[in-house]
Amino acid sequence: MPLSDTDLPPDGHANGRNLGLVGGESDAALDAAGHDVIIRARNVSVSFGTKKVLDGLSLDVRRGEILGFVGGSGQGKSVLLRTILGLNQKQEGTIEIFGTDYERASDKERLAVEQRWGVLFQHGALFSSLSVLENIQVPMREYLDLSPGLMDDLARLKIDLVGLPQDAAHKFPSELSGGMIKRAALARALSLDPDIVFLDEPTSGLDPIGASEFDELIMTLRDTLGLTVYMVTHDLDSLFQACDRIAVLGNKKVLVEGPLDAMLAFDDPWVKSYFHGKRARTIVADRPSIDPAPSQTDDADSGKENA
Ligand SMILES: Nc1ncnc2c1ncn2[C@@H]1O[C@H](COP(=O)(O)OP(=O)(O)OP(=O)(O)O)[C@@H](O)[C@H]1O
Ligand SMILES: [Mg+2]
Repeated sequence: MPLSDTDLPPDGHANGRNLGLVGGESDAALDAAGHDVIIRARNVSVSFGTKKVLDGLSLDVRRGEILGFVGGSGQGKSVLLRTILGLNQKQEGTIEIFGTDYERASDKERLAVEQRWGVLFQHGALFSSLSVLENIQVPMREYLDLSPGLMDDLARLKIDLVGLPQDAAHKFPSELSGGMIKRAALARALSLDPDIVFLDEPTSGLDPIGASEFDELIMTLRDTLGLTVYMVTHDLDSLFQACDRIAVLGNKKVLVEGPLDAMLAFDDPWVKSYFHGKRARTIVADRPSIDPAPSQTDDADSGKENA
């Protein structure tokens, strides 16, 4: 069942912690440095007809982090997101999420995985014909068997959680500001207490203050709920302010992933122009804690080159 006017997502979902782990096994793999990796993509290639969009892409997403996923327009950020969610087919490679290869999983295993993620798509935030309360309840109706009163209570909790006023509950999307729509869409992605949320350009179209407030909200949710956040973004403020690590998409693969320092030190024309451009320089100037030209180190936590 479609969850918005313009997209067909499995949307914000149920609490995997209540469902038990898939196959009774660990839901994550440790990487070489001992990080808890809940999404592990290896050598992923995706084509549409003869057009190859992703070619040998690898990426890790660690539990509890805010990962910023960045890259030029049309490079394939949304395609990768949809591929992780099983909405696009890949031709090569593997993607494990919570220790499960979603593509090869049984229906039951897929359902268990789907119920642990929430999604805010780039286009198609909400159903226009449903109120905010009803939008938030869409995943509940799909995955749970709850009384209307309980669903109302839960949806109102989500409205609080994302910082919307309670009187937004019975408003329709057309009656909301852009920032309120993003928050309502986030509330729906959080509908059933997921372990990870995927956010595709969550602050696009917001003014800098609204965008910054949204980033604060994401950080608070990460800290209070232990949420893992996979955030596709063009927003340098978000990358500098909110993200624990960043991955850069270029040449159809992840060029580099690591903390901001690793981006600032990485030697690639696009990465350099993006992270050392005029806008970035302004942000760095406002934040004395950021070293604008760190040297690359071989520390386990610094940038991992994937080229
Ligand atoms: N279903 C599809 N069929 C054919 N081509 C597609 C499909 N989905 C995406 N593409 C193509 O894949 C490429 C990458 O698209 P994608 O939407 O992932 O870019 P993006 O990095 O998210 O860009 P933006 O920053 O503008 O959102 C584009 O050339 C797009 O036209
Ligand atoms: Mg996109």
